[in-house]
Amino acid sequence: MTNEQYIKAIENRHSRRAYKQKHLSQEIKDVIKQMVDAVNEEAGLDLLFIDDATPFFSIFSGKFSMIVVAGDDSQKVRENCGYFGESIVLQCVYHGLGTCWVSGTYNENKVYEAIKLPSEKRVYAVITIGYPKDRYSLVEKTMYKATHKKCKSYQDMIEVCDEKLPEAYAYGLSLVEKGPSAVNRRPVKFRYENGEFSGYVDEPYSDKSVDFGIAKLHFVIGAMAKGVNGKWSFENVFEPVDGQRLKFEPKMDEEEKSNE
Ligand SMILES: Cc1cc2nc3c(=O)[nH]c(=O)nc-3n(C[C@H](O)[C@H](O)[C@H](O)COP(=O)(O)O)c2cc1C
Repeated sequence: MTNEQYIKAIENRHSRRAYKQKHLSQEIKDVIKQMVDAVNEEAGLDLLFIDDATPFFSIFSGKFSMIVVAGDDSQKVRENCGYFGESIVLQCVYHGLGTCWVSGTYNENKVYEAIKLPSEKRVYAVITIGYPKDRYSLVEKTMYKATHKKCKSYQDMIEVCDEKLPEAYAYGLSLVEKGPSAVNRRPVKFRYENGEFSGYVDEPYSDKSVDFGIAKLHFVIGAMAKGVNGKWSFENVFEPVDGQRLKFEPKMDEEEKSNE
């Protein structure tokens, strides 16, 4: 998918919890399984596709599948789960499917029983995928109201900013604002100081790092659209200022550089 297509998916994505009474076609399931295999290979995760996810849910409706988002017990793996899981979400959304990240409202014990994960690994969330209902259900409207009473703008997520944000970073953050996060808490704190952009979450050894991974991907997509082809470091280069602050390392497009 192109970067532009990812942006379209970000614009169109909303968590969907009501699906049609029709299972995904075999062709779509096969494509999702291929994406899962590719992510596991690239990022060393333990994502697993489950054909019929309905037995693990009580408040979601219709027929849907899910990806179990699992891996080793580390901060980096939590972030990668968010980053790579969201890349699959956006590809599904672009092709008209409905998705929802879920870490609370499903039967986690039943999932552990079903998948027999090695004891050193953990399930961080699941992602439901199905054909979304044309209209939002009452449950969806109620959940939306509950989670969107107060929404942090991206400006609210910036902790320090000692000069005007470059356009690429401001746009990246505007796409972070559109991303999913558990109970819509948008927990990532960003700083732009001395020309360096960084981000962190207060409790990196929690599922807030999954939210951070999702935010990282949205930021990278936004920055890239404005000519900054950067990546997030995994090393905390700011110790001992705070625990786990990670830096965004920009790399300008050749074309942009020659225009400077
Ligand atoms: C890690 C994570 C966990 C989530 N857990 C749940 C959940 O347990 N149940 C649920 O209905 N939605 C869950 N959500 C969806 C959020 O509520 C949703 O992303 C947020 O309210 C923003 O709404 P939007 O996704 O429609 O933009 C989760 C999202 C993330 C990223």
